[in-house]
Amino acid sequence: MASTKRIALLGSTGSIGRQTLDVIDSLPDRFRVIALACHRSADDIVAQARQHRPELVAVVDPEAARKVGEALQGSGIEVAAGLAGVTRCAVHPEADVVVAAAAGVAGLRPVWEAARAGKRLALANKEPLVVAGHLIRAEAARSGAVLLPIDSEHSAIFQSLLGQHRESVARVILTASGGAFRDLPQDELARVTPEQALAHPTWKMGPKVTVDSATLMNKGLELIEARWLFDLAPEMLGVVLHRESIVHSLVEFVDGAVMAHLAQPDMRLPIQFALSYPARLARPEPPPDLAHLGALRFEPFDGERWPCVELARRAMAMGGTAPSALSAADEVAVAWFLDGRIPFTAIPHTIERALTAHDVKPGDSLEALLEADAQVRRFLERTQGR
Ligand SMILES: NC(=O)c1ccc[n+]([C@@H]2O[C@H](COP(=O)([O-])OP(=O)(O)OC[C@H]3O[C@@H](n4cnc5c(N)ncnc54)[C@H](OP(=O)(O)O)[C@@H]3O)[C@@H](O)[C@H]2O)c1
Repeated sequence: MASTKRIALLGSTGSIGRQTLDVIDSLPDRFRVIALACHRSADDIVAQARQHRPELVAVVDPEAARKVGEALQGSGIEVAAGLAGVTRCAVHPEADVVVAAAAGVAGLRPVWEAARAGKRLALANKEPLVVAGHLIRAEAARSGAVLLPIDSEHSAIFQSLLGQHRESVARVILTASGGAFRDLPQDELARVTPEQALAHPTWKMGPKVTVDSATLMNKGLELIEARWLFDLAPEMLGVVLHRESIVHSLVEFVDGAVMAHLAQPDMRLPIQFALSYPARLARPEPPPDLAHLGALRFEPFDGERWPCVELARRAMAMGGTAPSALSAADEVAVAWFLDGRIPFTAIPHTIERALTAHDVKPGDSLEALLEADAQVRRFLERTQGR
């Protein structure tokens, strides 16, 4: 009889967080929630806590944390506030797996502390690896922490690499669905609205990652994430467009063989695999029916139409604090677009401006990386409209 794994879930009220709870609900003998954390969705996390009975709940926003504390009074569930509370969830001594599903660079400190504590980390939140992949990898090697991907592309690569020798890998190719505007004429991109950008053709995701999917910055961030997860040189990473989102990524080997990972576009699959790894557990949904699908299409990636991927490659080549600058500039630009402050096409321009102005430092500590992030945010606020 397999033992029950205890899960600490950071970002439980978001898209990945809720789907993680679906997986846990469907396998109650295998998984149990030990800690939950969110930013400010008090009512949602109270409902989750009442259902899942974790030991600890953390809410970043102090006012929301107070509300949650009142609602859960007498329940025996401890409520903690602030980033310190989230970090306590990330290093909870009873957590067997820490699921990092917060959005943005806000998840960096808890992921870092979980890596330091030698935890098994299931990573959906890509920004921590983008910003501090070199440090997190080194820390995991020291502490014995295990990094498992949840992102569907990285889960596909991880699964295609199982049992293979590292030196037999020639290239890794990430698939991209193309986002909400894949067929829109280039000259109409400047007029797209936040509502249009938030309507992704395949995946239902949080607002930041959905806009990143529309600009293809998501693919750029994923390239950097893959570099650190799998210890690959940047030139070994490629992108191909694939509309059906059935092939989640591919690995090319030195003998010319290509391994592809196929699955339905449903995040609960990679989430479940990250929780159950190395076991595979049954799921109710059928696998892709290839005869019914008929064809899977692949198209070259157009780097000129989608400059964010090239910007991410540039930051990856610059190294040090540059990916932190890229990530911060992207968060600012996406927020400005969603607030109606800039048009869609100004997102890459804003990021490029920040990256060009950034004075790259080695980025050999978390503090240096977070300082670079803060500097870029100050720079962009100071120079908006230029
Ligand atoms: N959604 C997908 O299909 C998908 C696929 C692959 C990778 N990812 C990655 O997974 C991450 C989460 O994406 P999502 O779509 O689930 O985002 P989302 O729906 O926006 O949810 C974000 C979650 O993070 C919480 N949060 C924000 N700041 C936090 C902090 N400092 N500490 C703890 N929790 C915090 C939010 O809490 P509140 O509700 O209180 O704001 C919410 O629970 C992103 O990095 C994204 O790139 C997502």
